[in-house]
Amino acid sequence: MKTRKRYTITAALPYTNGPIHIGHLAGVYVPADIYARYKRLTGNDVAFICGSDEHGVPITIKAKKEGVTPQEIVDRYHKIIKESFEDFGISFDNYSRTSAKIHHETASEFFKTLYDKNEFVEEVSEQLYDEEANQFLADRFVVGTCPKCGNEESYGDQCEKCGTSHNATDLINPKSAITGNVPTLKETKHWFLPLNKHEAFLNDWILKGHKKDWKPNVYGQVKSWIDDGLRPRAVTRDLDWGIPVPVPGGEGKVLYVWFDAPIGYISSTKEWADREGKDWEPYWKDKDTKLVHFIGKDNIVFHCIIFPAMLKAEGSYILPDNVPANEFLNLEGNKLSTSKNWAVWLPDYLQDFPNQQDVLRYALTANAPETKDNDFTWKDFQARNNNELVAIFGNFINRVVVLTNKYYNGIVPTPSEFSTVDEETLAAVKAYPAVIESSLERYRFREASQELMNLARLGNKYLADEEPWKLIKTDEARTKTIMYIALQIASALATLSEPFLPFTSTKLKNILNVSSSDSTQKKSIENKWEDISTKNVLLPANHQIGKGELLFSKIEDKTIQEQLDKLEASKKANEAANKVVEPQKDTITFDDFTKLDIRVGTIIEAEKMPKAKKLLVLKVDTGIDVRTIVSGIAESFTAEEVVGKKVTVLVNLAPRALRGVESQGMILMTETAEGKLVFVNPDDATVSNGLHIS
Ligand code: 2FM
Ligand code: ZN
Repeated sequence: MKTRKRYTITAALPYTNGPIHIGHLAGVYVPADIYARYKRLTGNDVAFICGSDEHGVPITIKAKKEGVTPQEIVDRYHKIIKESFEDFGISFDNYSRTSAKIHHETASEFFKTLYDKNEFVEEVSEQLYDEEANQFLADRFVVGTCPKCGNEESYGDQCEKCGTSHNATDLINPKSAITGNVPTLKETKHWFLPLNKHEAFLNDWILKGHKKDWKPNVYGQVKSWIDDGLRPRAVTRDLDWGIPVPVPGGEGKVLYVWFDAPIGYISSTKEWADREGKDWEPYWKDKDTKLVHFIGKDNIVFHCIIFPAMLKAEGSYILPDNVPANEFLNLEGNKLSTSKNWAVWLPDYLQDFPNQQDVLRYALTANAPETKDNDFTWKDFQARNNNELVAIFGNFINRVVVLTNKYYNGIVPTPSEFSTVDEETLAAVKAYPAVIESSLERYRFREASQELMNLARLGNKYLADEEPWKLIKTDEARTKTIMYIALQIASALATLSEPFLPFTSTKLKNILNVSSSDSTQKKSIENKWEDISTKNVLLPANHQIGKGELLFSKIEDKTIQEQLDKLEASKKANEAANKVVEPQKDTITFDDFTKLDIRVGTIIEAEKMPKAKKLLVLKVDTGIDVRTIVSGIAESFTAEEVVGKKVTVLVNLAPRALRGVESQGMILMTETAEGKLVFVNPDDATVSNGLHIS
């Protein structure tokens, strides 16, 4: 048995300004959950901590937009987010919120301690101010060009493109996100955390210390910041939503959201410990505790530089052992975006794929953005489900369970002598915990999930090679041995799948009639993680298993197409919402207008202009004559579908040659809000006699 260790595992506190989507799940919560479940299963003392990040500008902006209070926004999304986590089996020991009293107290106290220890620099400086909105512009209230990478949409505190964290006054061409105005400068007092003072410590701890085993993306970012030189960072703001600055002169000011949010990990741990009758302090102050922060890459600087500097300045806390940050997940080739509704929201997913949480967990893990940004596609999701979960994992279990029920009424048969293949197979099964652990210890969740699938592959191959369904007719004893071995593999899968596929694992344990860690109903057999490599028998002969139930089912093309259509519709709606309406043209006189000779005509022939993407050559009966009109509508209509159509034609437009064909008029078209071209439709009119003006 390995020694039991204490782990404080945190997952980034999500902002409560919207529901969470697959990007959040893939980047932070699924890997964190796999890790926490794995650490618990291997007998460690785990505090898996999270909560809602309820302060900060994004929430204020959302509230302003909706004309409601920030409190209403955070209450709404705290509930939705918390439910999503529960629905997807994210096994937090505690999910708190930063508006909780315990958090306000903990963060205030933390600030006061640093203040009393003279760890802040108090400074009056000029900050960006919006005269019209009557407000200082910090963080997301201001947008401008990033001084490091030139991104024109950088926020005041951070550029989401290059990840750099900066001061709002560093932005080039800043603009207020509230009014669009160019800010002025106004003096105000703030408390700064002098990161420069902690540079030597950070350098020793991360660069010279053992942090070279951190993921290269994390280590590389941190190194580049430290190499660039660190500067003092303001940790207070002139805002009215947040935790009041608890020291003299702090009236009307609040703590910077990134000062209070990571302290949220500590207050959430306190809340949990209070509830469970435990002492919270060892989880944060005992140097034998391993503190691991799961975050997305945009949070690296806060967790690897600013929070450690805060913890170090406070003096009594441990520092993170690792910060396995992930890169970003894209969706069908585009950046996930809340504002553009380019996302798969978890509540929507559950509605469309009820009880299929594990499929998403698996697809996101198998394709996790661990070392580089990655793309989620519905096709890949379908393939992961159909070709792996259904065809490998599900198929193996189904065969084992169905055959055991069919041949032996669900009773595990007694084996005879093992063949070399049997011995090798059992030995290979025993090796899996170590193989999966080795990946998980290196935070390689993709690799770990593939190893799990390899175990199911091993089972499938064993059955396919040994063919018990053929042998049953000729060799009952051998068939029993084969089925016995297959049942041992199924049993190993039930345990080892728990961190990755918790719902499936529970189902499978129920089918196999063994204890499950998340059920109060204890069965006579319980297989823990380490048992898979140490026990010779996981499912003994004569043990009764249950009836089968399909663990996964095939996802059809139609279902995937519906999701793609949904995304396409949201793209269109977004384009329409953002469409810039062209300004009205210069006024024309009534006489100008009466010069137009507009008739109703009928298209009697149409063909595509060769080598011209947009052009159709039409023959139009205008009532006066039949003439040729070249029209730029080929991207919206085929030649066949326009023949016979009634159209409105400007007949007295001066002829002009298009690609060598003379066009003698113009078909009037207009564009819908979605950008689709439509005919200015004369409906049932027959031939018109020029323009009628009423
Ligand atoms: O990026 C975010 O969504 C932040 N709300 C993460 C906060 S993590 C922590 F420090 F609380
Ligand atoms: Zn940048």
